[in-house]
Amino acid sequence: MEVVINRDYEQMSKVASQIVVEVVNTKPNAVLGMATGSTPLGLYQELVRLHKEEQLDLSRVTTFNLDEYVGLRMDHPQSYHYFMREHFFQHVNIPRQNINIPSGTTSNYPAFCEWYEQRIAQCGGIDLQILGIGSDGHIAFNEPTSSLSSRTRLKTLSKQTIDDNARFFERREDVPVYAITMGVGTILDARKLVMVASGKAKAKAIAQAVEGPLTSMVTASAIQLHRDATVIVDEQAAAELTMRDYYEFIYAAEPAAPRS
Ligand code: PGA
Repeated sequence: MEVVINRDYEQMSKVASQIVVEVVNTKPNAVLGMATGSTPLGLYQELVRLHKEEQLDLSRVTTFNLDEYVGLRMDHPQSYHYFMREHFFQHVNIPRQNINIPSGTTSNYPAFCEWYEQRIAQCGGIDLQILGIGSDGHIAFNEPTSSLSSRTRLKTLSKQTIDDNARFFERREDVPVYAITMGVGTILDARKLVMVASGKAKAKAIAQAVEGPLTSMVTASAIQLHRDATVIVDEQAAAELTMRDYYEFIYAAEPAAPRS
């Protein structure tokens, strides 16, 4: 795992966007796994800027979002469909038919979840999965005790996640209790993982995910099993990492590091 510590949110977003650009430049028809939440906003803004100002072409890209609230229609302002359209899809040139987001309003969740997994496989699997991290250590909506081999399914949100996300809704009671989410196993199948985290509210979760034991109590710790995972944090989110000097040494030395 590589850990990149940045001075602030803006730099974190730029470094993460460069990884996306590299993947798309190498493979123009890449399959990208998208995340929602406040953390990846800067990354999306930077990709939009690169598309508008520097000809970043996403016309052959396919996307799969990690998750969606159950019960919110696509046009609900807090739905992840709405979030993605507002902050990213309406500003870039990914064809509508290449965009996949779990349905929060299907009448048959098990069948939909199975279809979503099949669709990912039909598209050749996810090349790069973007991830945030919850303050309870979740990735996507894989709450503590989720199986580390789980696939796309319905999950009940933890109290901590409902509290964290209540800021986006008028009342706490309006936060959906259920979500449809890719599983930890689905995420680990992606060829490359990039996790972004910012702010002191994420410092403990990041330390547990990167340096703690592998445990379903912190589903983000499952990225330790992945062979190509990069964790991109700002100063505040890095605050509880004990191996910081080591990560900085590696990052600084990288251009000169021996290559096999
Ligand atoms: P946030 O959410 O970026 O809004 O903090 C992250 C997450 O819950 O995965």
